[in-house]
Amino acid sequence: MNTALDHNRITIDVHLTDTHSETLDEEIRSGLLASPRSLPTKYFYDDYGSELFERICELPEYYQTRTEHALLATYADDIIHITGADELVELGSGASTKTRVLLDAMAHVNQLQFYVPFDVSEGIVRRVAQELAAEYSCLRIHGVIGDFLAHMEHIPNGGKRLVAFLGGTLGNLKPDTAEAFLASVYNEMNSGDYFLLGIQLITDIERLEAAYNDVSGLSAQFNKNILPVVHNLTGANFDPNAFEHVAIYNQPDHRIEMWLRSLCNQTITFPRLAWHLPLKAGESILTEISTKYNRQLAENVLTTAGFTLREWHTDSQELLGLALAYKP
Ligand SMILES: C[S@@+](CC[C@H](N)C(=O)[O-])C[C@H]1O[C@@H](n2cnc3c(N)ncnc32)[C@H](O)[C@@H]1O
Repeated sequence: MNTALDHNRITIDVHLTDTHSETLDEEIRSGLLASPRSLPTKYFYDDYGSELFERICELPEYYQTRTEHALLATYADDIIHITGADELVELGSGASTKTRVLLDAMAHVNQLQFYVPFDVSEGIVRRVAQELAAEYSCLRIHGVIGDFLAHMEHIPNGGKRLVAFLGGTLGNLKPDTAEAFLASVYNEMNSGDYFLLGIQLITDIERLEAAYNDVSGLSAQFNKNILPVVHNLTGANFDPNAFEHVAIYNQPDHRIEMWLRSLCNQTITFPRLAWHLPLKAGESILTEISTKYNRQLAENVLTTAGFTLREWHTDSQELLGLALAYKP
């Protein structure tokens, strides 16, 4: 771990140490050898990928962010009143844009003390920490740069905590991973702490597919950005121009799937492993899933992890759900 005090109210811990190694190459190789072939979603989010995601959030087709923002704006005071939280921990915090709504609600009742942004994307955590320290004069920020599937125990122990997981990020995890992830969140929480889950709901296919196939092509750029990131980590010769973006709704599994489809016969070489992956034209690699839920499915995953659901909010079109749950 590398801890550096950037500012007297900011602490940043970095837990991503294994960033250029054969272990990492092996992890990526096992995904590429699986059926279907896949790459880990977390590799979308280098600094450029995080910037692309921020821009996607503002697209007209990407209804998710503005709907979740509006829901938070409506219910933030109520959430802070119920939870009594003086500390906000946010997993997969990204640009922490919607987070300001919760921080403001905490500040209004003089409860705002501590914010813990936790994200795999180093640049964005450092940027957000500086921004928020400037915006909120007494707020202490303890950023954690790490993988929330591996480093959950590094969440600092604190006060009366509200742990937020927004942006539909739970939907990016496969069902067994989502279950294990929620169990690890639960384990890290104290009895009486609250968990706020923003979850994307099952809706019509046209709306869902349009959100991942925007006319400006940002989603395609975001999808292809995983290739230079994997190239930088492993040296593998992925060429983004040799792939096309595909995003489709898989109805039985109620999830959007993003794929990169090879446009030609090609061979990808991983130099450290001296391993070659032949890809035929038309062969695809799964890069992201975004599972959509309904209230029952959301309640099931929360209660399986041990949580008790306290409140469920949704918008008038039932596109987004906000579940507030606690650890008894
Ligand atoms: C869908 S975005 C949501 C961002 C933000 N919470 C929002 O609501 O707009 C997912 C976020 O989770 C982060 N992330 C993805 N996988 C991660 C992992 N395994 N560990 C930590 N952060 C991760 C990404 O860097 C990104 O900021």
